[in-house]
Amino acid sequence: MTAKQISGAKKLPMRRGGKAARIAIIPGDGIGKEVIPEAVKVLRAAVGPSQLHVEFVEFDWGADKYLREGVTLPAGAVEMLRDEFDAILFGALGDPRVPSNQHASEILLGLRFKLDLYVNARPVELLNDRLTPLRDRTERDIRMMVFRENTEGLYVGVGGFFKKGTPDEIAVQEDVNSRKGVERIIRYAFEYARQNGLKRLCMSDKSNAMNFAHDLWQRVFKEVLQEYPEIESRHLYIDTLAMEMVRDPRQFDVIVTCNLFGDIISDLGAQLAGGLGLSPSGNIHPGKTSLFEPVHGSAPNIAGKGIANPFGSILAAAMMLEFLGWKSEAQALHDAVRSALREDFVTPDLAGKRKRQRWAIGWRSG
Ligand SMILES: NC(=O)c1ccc[n+]([C@@H]2O[C@H](COP(=O)([O-])OP(=O)(O)OC[C@H]3O[C@@H](n4cnc5c(N)ncnc54)[C@H](O)[C@@H]3O)[C@@H](O)[C@H]2O)c1
Repeated sequence: MTAKQISGAKKLPMRRGGKAARIAIIPGDGIGKEVIPEAVKVLRAAVGPSQLHVEFVEFDWGADKYLREGVTLPAGAVEMLRDEFDAILFGALGDPRVPSNQHASEILLGLRFKLDLYVNARPVELLNDRLTPLRDRTERDIRMMVFRENTEGLYVGVGGFFKKGTPDEIAVQEDVNSRKGVERIIRYAFEYARQNGLKRLCMSDKSNAMNFAHDLWQRVFKEVLQEYPEIESRHLYIDTLAMEMVRDPRQFDVIVTCNLFGDIISDLGAQLAGGLGLSPSGNIHPGKTSLFEPVHGSAPNIAGKGIANPFGSILAAAMMLEFLGWKSEAQALHDAVRSALREDFVTPDLAGKRKRQRWAIGWRSG
């Protein structure tokens, strides 16, 4: 399958890092369909003044298509994205009409696994002091990058039921960790620290209880850190890390951990920096087609009300521009979000009911 067959768009060669890019847009379900169009508008404005050519091709993969046609990720979709697109901007998947959310795991986990997007980068950055729930903390205190392993661990779907539905039922879920998988995410985190002049890296696991899988993490970490003597390397058990992130977030520059723990502590980090609505993420394989999305889900409880916060998606678009090598345009998106926060031009999740009216007026006129 090609994008032309799906949408009539013409096929372009990959031009990552150059002056042009082809971006697949997958809004998904719920508020994904509300926040991604806003991010695309801002993206267009950011690249407009430059000599950059960006082509957007939208795909309607999500619950509606699944319920209508029984299709999750169409045949050939992964190859098409890999061969014809530089990056993917993704909203969220999840719909109460699909109780198992089968479509969501087939599409999102399918893309993460099949495109081998082994880095899940989740920046935790307080963009305005008033947004953190922590007392007396400022922008300078809450600024870290969480790297979550994105293709292994408990999310690979290896397991099964025994005597399902009986009182003797057993459910098994395997935690799969390969040396290659652990090494490449730990190495990526160290490289990120080195390239960005960051001095402290913390690897987190639960090796005191998970004495096989996380023994591997321990051994690989101790090997790789030898190559980065200028970086202060440290290990914390995941429960201690959660506690320390709240007690004193200034301690952390870069955190690297496994799939499950990264999923959880990046949500904790998101709250420290103002909430899920503001948090972006990148699902990255260096040099290959990568996917950028807000951390939040499809939020069925607010979908259709026009109150979803688009900043997480706009910041995800900024991460995407940076991945494409367009640093000044990425910075422009970042600055735009920062200035909107400064001017209180925000959605109700950041402002509370007090600001709802003002925001609604601004939104319509904007
Ligand atoms: N990457 C993804 O596609 C992804 C991630 C997480 C959850 N999900 C799915 O999304 C569905 C809902 O999950 P959930 O409720 O646990 O998580 P959620 O992130 O959708 O919502 C959690 C809470 O945060 C609020 N919220 C989230 N994003 C917001 C935004 N942009 N602006 C304002 N408020 C926002 C919601 O209203 C809700 O109260 C489920 O089906 C879940 O599986 C998908």
